[in-house]
Amino acid sequence: MEENDWKLLRIVEISMKNHEWVPIQDLKRKTGFHEKELAFRISRLNKFRFTNKSNYGYRLSHYGYDALAMNAFIKKELITGIGGKVGVGKEGNVYHVLLTNTREAVLKLHILGRTCFSMGKRYREYLANKRHISWLYASRLTAEREFNILSHLFPIVKVPEPIEQNRHALIIGKLHGEELKRVDVEKLDVNPEELFMKIIKEVKKAYSLGFIHGDLSEFNVLINSEGDFLIIDWPQAIEVGKKGKVDKLPFEEVEYDEEFYLKRDLENLLRYFKKYGVDESLDKLYNYVIEK
Ligand SMILES: Nc1ncnc2c1ncn2[C@@H]1O[C@H](COP(=O)(O)OP(=O)(O)OP(=O)(O)O)[C@@H](O)[C@H]1O
Ligand SMILES: [Mg+2]
Repeated sequence: MEENDWKLLRIVEISMKNHEWVPIQDLKRKTGFHEKELAFRISRLNKFRFTNKSNYGYRLSHYGYDALAMNAFIKKELITGIGGKVGVGKEGNVYHVLLTNTREAVLKLHILGRTCFSMGKRYREYLANKRHISWLYASRLTAEREFNILSHLFPIVKVPEPIEQNRHALIIGKLHGEELKRVDVEKLDVNPEELFMKIIKEVKKAYSLGFIHGDLSEFNVLINSEGDFLIIDWPQAIEVGKKGKVDKLPFEEVEYDEEFYLKRDLENLLRYFKKYGVDESLDKLYNYVIEK
């Protein structure tokens, strides 16, 4: 990819605001490229599958969107390398990356449809008649939302450090560990009861900062052999005290029930730790979390 290829790709991206398929004439006018150069570059973008072609013109693909985000991180001199997928048998939205300061981190790419979250009415109305770019906006909004929530919580709550966000992509701090689901808690340096209460304390801190995770379970707690852990995967978190109607993709109206979501998070943890002999009452835990 040459600088002019990136320029063309960004113009395709921007033009998606007004077009489902961007006409070649628009690209010619906006890039100022000669016909030959444009033809050459657009066929290169198509070959990389960064754009798709139809009789009506060109559109940005998911690959193209991924490439734009990654290129932005590289241009900022934030990352020097992208490695393989994190974990095995994953859908492939989280990758190992190497930061320029040689620190390891992870890159998380949001894909529309994976998470539901509240969206402002303004966006909903905007998207309603722009269905063809809703995936672009929705995936970007999801990433922005997760980044903002992490910024609120880090470093008070044990969550990944938010490092950078661009489009639908986040770079966050990495823990060399595994999902709680995949470790034998009895083999850790910490006893299950103690670990359970440590996690509950993080839930309480997050709550006092105004957030309920909303999808908490043994899949979204990462832990290493020393028993250090992080609570991950926050885009769907619920903001405490935001009552009333909210918008949820795909534009349905739902009402948050904080007690329901918080209790469900706690129940999931309880259920998992039960097999390690932890036995606490849900109501007691709930009251502990919400008390000031
Ligand atoms: N900060 C991190 N450090 C190390 N590994 C991570 C980190 N964040 C995510 N991962 C790995 O990537 C996986 C997916 O991340 P996350 O839960 O945030 O995304 P997701 O959209 O829920 O994906 P999935 O549906 O696969 O869980 C995690 O289960 C974990 O294995
Ligand atoms: Mg997850």
